[in-house]
Amino acid sequence: MLDVPGLASIERACFGREEADDLLAAELSRGWARVRVAELPGDEVAAFLDGWVVADEFEVHFVATRPERQRRGLAAMLLDFALDEVFAEGARSSMLEVRRDNAAAQGLYRSRGFEVVAERRRYYDDGEDALVMRCSLEGSLLAARRAVYGDR
Ligand SMILES: CC(C)(COP(=O)(O)OP(=O)(O)OC[C@H]1O[C@@H](n2cnc3c(N)ncnc32)[C@H](O)[C@@H]1OP(=O)(O)O)[C@@H](O)C(=O)NCCC(=O)NCCS
Repeated sequence: MLDVPGLASIERACFGREEADDLLAAELSRGWARVRVAELPGDEVAAFLDGWVVADEFEVHFVATRPERQRRGLAAMLLDFALDEVFAEGARSSMLEVRRDNAAAQGLYRSRGFEVVAERRRYYDDGEDALVMRCSLEGSLLAARRAVYGDR
């Protein structure tokens, strides 16, 4: 059972959205949404990832780590887990949009092998541009990890 209020509290802490509960509840109510959660001892929900598999591509929609738990590898772990999981199910690429000024998220995605493939001008409601980033799940970084840890 997903702790929707717990996930919404992370989203609110990260994005400051008042409507976080409604937005997230709507997303999580979609049966095809893939949500993966990192819990710390004491049942604290520390980070989560959400995305959809569309054909052979995994679209990452949200990744967020509670501010006081950031820079401990939680988002990287969740992303690696999800990418390995969808690869095992047949996905061969992953893509996402990220705000141009979100250096932390871009750093995370680059660290997992994503590259900028396009820009979407004034994509967000506040007029900020989006960068479209994509990662081949057959690329060298993931392939190298699978060679070490094996396919799941
Ligand atoms: C982006 C975010 C999810 C990263 O979560 P995290 O758990 O702190 O990330 P990790 O500790 O797993 O970091 C993995 C790598 O990402 C990169 N990274 C993470 N935070 C970074 C930052 N602030 N600046 C630059 N690179 C960063 C680094 O390469 C890092 O590896 P390193 O710590 O060995 O250098 C987190 O900053 C966050 O929740 N931000 C607000 C929500 C958000 O903007 N989400 C993305 C859009 S939906």
